Amino acid sequence: MSINAKKKIVIGNWKMNLTVPESIILSERIEKEMASYKYTDVVVCPSFLSIYPVSSILKDSPIKIGAQNLFYEEKGNFTGETSPSQLRGFADYVIIGHSERRIFLGERDKDIAKKVKTAVTFGFTPIVCFGETLQERGDGLGKVVVTSQLEAVLGLLTANEVANVIVVYEPVWAISPSDRVCAPKDAVYIIEALRNLTGALYGKDMAEKMRFIYGGSVDDKNAKEFLKERLIEGFLVGGASMDHNGFLSIIRDVEKSASRSSKNIPGK
Ligand code: 13P
Repeated sequence: MSINAKKKIVIGNWKMNLTVPESIILSERIEKEMASYKYTDVVVCPSFLSIYPVSSILKDSPIKIGAQNLFYEEKGNFTGETSPSQLRGFADYVIIGHSERRIFLGERDKDIAKKVKTAVTFGFTPIVCFGETLQERGDGLGKVVVTSQLEAVLGLLTANEVANVIVVYEPVWAISPSDRVCAPKDAVYIIEALRNLTGALYGKDMAEKMRFIYGGSVDDKNAKEFLKERLIEGFLVGGASMDHNGFLSIIRDVEKSASRSSKNIPGK
C-alpha cells in the first residue's frame, strides 16, 4: 500500500481538562460543524467521566471516541483503574504510554507493553506515544530513546496485532505549555526512525500500512507546515483540540493535504 492510500488521522486529547458539562458543550459544537471527510479520521479523547455523555452526542457523527488510558487486566481489585471490558462500546481508540503518564505516574515500558497488548486483544486501536525528554535530546539520545521505547512496547506484538497500532512521536520538550517547537524536519527524522524500526520488526509492508503521526503544540497555525511532510500522517493535538474552531481548522487542513496527496499533487 502506498503511503498516500491511507487515511490520515486527527486525534484530540483533552487530557484532565473540561468538566462533564464543558465536555458536552465542546462535543456538541464539534458535532454541529463537523463534515464527513473522505481522507481523514477524527477521534476525540475526553476524560473517563465524560466518555459516556460525549459518546452519546457523537454516536451518529463520523467522530470516534478514544480513552486516555486503560488497564491491562479485564476486571478485579485494581482501585481506580478502568478495564477494557468496561470501556468496550464507548470507545474505539485508546491512548497508551503518553509521556505525562510515564513522567507523573511512573508508567514503564513494560506496563505500556501490557496495555497495548490488552488493547489490541479487546479490539481497540491503540494510539501509542513515544518521545524523548529535553535532557535526552540535549545529550543527542533522542532517536535512541524513542526507538528503544518502541521496541520495548511493540516488540511483543504479532504482525496481526501491530497492524492497527497508531504510532505517535510526541517529543516531551515540545508539549505545551513548553514554548519550544519541534521543527517538522526534526519530527520527520524521528518518525522515519520509528518507521524503519517497525519495518525491521514486522516488514516494510506493515510499516507502510500503519499510521505514524506527530504531537506537541500542534495548532491551526502550524499544522500546514507539518503537513508538508509526507511522512507525518496526522496529529495528536492537546490544547488546541479544546477550541472547536481551531480543531476543525486542523482537520480541514489535514483533509486538504490528504486529498492532494491522493492525487499526487505536491503540497508545497
Ligand atoms: P499539546 O498539543 O497541548 O502540546 O499536547 C500534546 C499532547 O500531549 C497530546 O497528547
